[in-house]
Amino acid sequence: MKMRNKFRKPTTLRCNAGSRCTLSVILWTLVGFLIMFHLRYMVQHRAVQGGEDIHLHTSYHPVFRELENVEEESIKVPPPRKRSPRAEKRKPRRPTTLIDEFLDESSQIRHIFFPYLRTAIDPRKDAGNDSFYYYPGRIWLDTDGNPIQAHGGGILYDEMTGTYYWYGEYKDGPTYHAHKRGAARVDIIGVGCYSSKDLWTWKHEGIVLPAEETDENHDLHKSNVLERPKVIFNKQTSKYVMWMHIDDVNYTKASVGVAVSDSPIGPFEYLYSKQPHGFDSRDMTIFKDDDGMAYLIYSSDDNSELHIGPLSSNYLDVTHVVVKALVGQRREAPALFKHEGTYYMITSGCSGWAPNEALAHAAGSIYGPWEIMGNPCMGGNKVFQLTTFFSQSTFVLPVPGVPGLFIFMADRWNPADLRDSRYVWLPLTVGGAVDRPLDYNFGFPLWSRVSIYWHKKWRLPSMWTAVSGQK
Ligand SMILES: *[C@@H]1O[C@H](CO)[C@@H](O)[C@H](O)[C@H]1NC(C)=O
Ligand SMILES: *[C@@H]1O[C@H](CO)[C@@H](O)[C@H](O)[C@H]1NC(C)=O
Repeated sequence: MKMRNKFRKPTTLRCNAGSRCTLSVILWTLVGFLIMFHLRYMVQHRAVQGGEDIHLHTSYHPVFRELENVEEESIKVPPPRKRSPRAEKRKPRRPTTLIDEFLDESSQIRHIFFPYLRTAIDPRKDAGNDSFYYYPGRIWLDTDGNPIQAHGGGILYDEMTGTYYWYGEYKDGPTYHAHKRGAARVDIIGVGCYSSKDLWTWKHEGIVLPAEETDENHDLHKSNVLERPKVIFNKQTSKYVMWMHIDDVNYTKASVGVAVSDSPIGPFEYLYSKQPHGFDSRDMTIFKDDDGMAYLIYSSDDNSELHIGPLSSNYLDVTHVVVKALVGQRREAPALFKHEGTYYMITSGCSGWAPNEALAHAAGSIYGPWEIMGNPCMGGNKVFQLTTFFSQSTFVLPVPGVPGLFIFMADRWNPADLRDSRYVWLPLTVGGAVDRPLDYNFGFPLWSRVSIYWHKKWRLPSMWTAVSGQK
């Protein structure tokens, strides 16, 4: 940032002659103070103006305001079930919380977190007024009537065909533990792909990168791990490039894998895996910038920090450039987006399949420094906010035709039956003041708050459908 440089410069002054030096230090200090006051005024002024902009913005688009109206949730934790006095003595009961209920597969209120199939979002039915509504957490059927299998996914917009492609882990197989202390898993089946023109009706395009059935040494052998596939299009080569997390059953391989295809619906040719820049790499994503540069972002050093590095011009490899971000913060599940020249990121904590608190981050350059701006989740209730609505970030999709509106895509993992993990899609906006002081900008609110709003049901503003020519 420009501002930071202005402050740093005086500290790098070199002086040789004693008294002149003292004088110049005093002078520079004075100048520094003046600049600081001026900047402070400017920033505050801008923040106020920003507030007005947001106000104008929402009053132009009433639907925007509707999306920002948070919904509250009051879920009662059911009374504890009867247990024999002997069982009680053996293991005294802890007080149950909403999170315990969420993690308990025999909870009486499980249907609140994992609603029944009969409430599924079904594009084959004429849903009347319910059409195009997202219901976070409900089963979501494709145009064949099967639950969508695209977990840990991401969306590519194909400009040539005006079509959205949703890629994710196809997990329609049994959940099991490979050994006693291993995490719940489903064997690799492959990367599922779904296409849509309206972001609601999804057609299954098949498994575009299938598992390897026989060769046990292959990265994609079903006994391994393939997570968080993301696809971007390379204009130079006219190829669709997929990056994914590749691992072994114990998560010791910690690598990224790369695959490529001439068509968005595959088949993708698997190229190789590697530890990028020689570092371990687990949760990851890729981000394609406006200028065509693409970046790999991955959790590294045992998930203690993030690494960010540009891809080569054909997107098939990383380069030698890499920076560390959020060092020591232990963040994973990164999802990046850009708004008005600023980079934003949502991350989760590291707690396996269990949900935790999301954080929003912002930076003027993709290389950072990345600010931590606090928890973006609004509405629901306190527990909803502390668990990212019982889900984990995977992708943020800009809504075309509605600048400043994004779809936050997350996974509500179901470790008892991973194929039944649900999708939580919610509106995300950027605007208003941040909640906490920022580390790299002397506490100045240079950036706006990222907010994700809880809704039991919601849909995109109709102007989106108008712009994209749908409906
Ligand atoms: C849709 O909404 C309108 C107006 O609120 C109502 O009159 C109509 O009955 C609804 N239709 C369905 C199928 O729910
Ligand atoms: C994974 O870890 C378990 C338990 O430590 C071990 O028995 C197994 O051989 C490991 N598997 C691989 C593929 O490393």
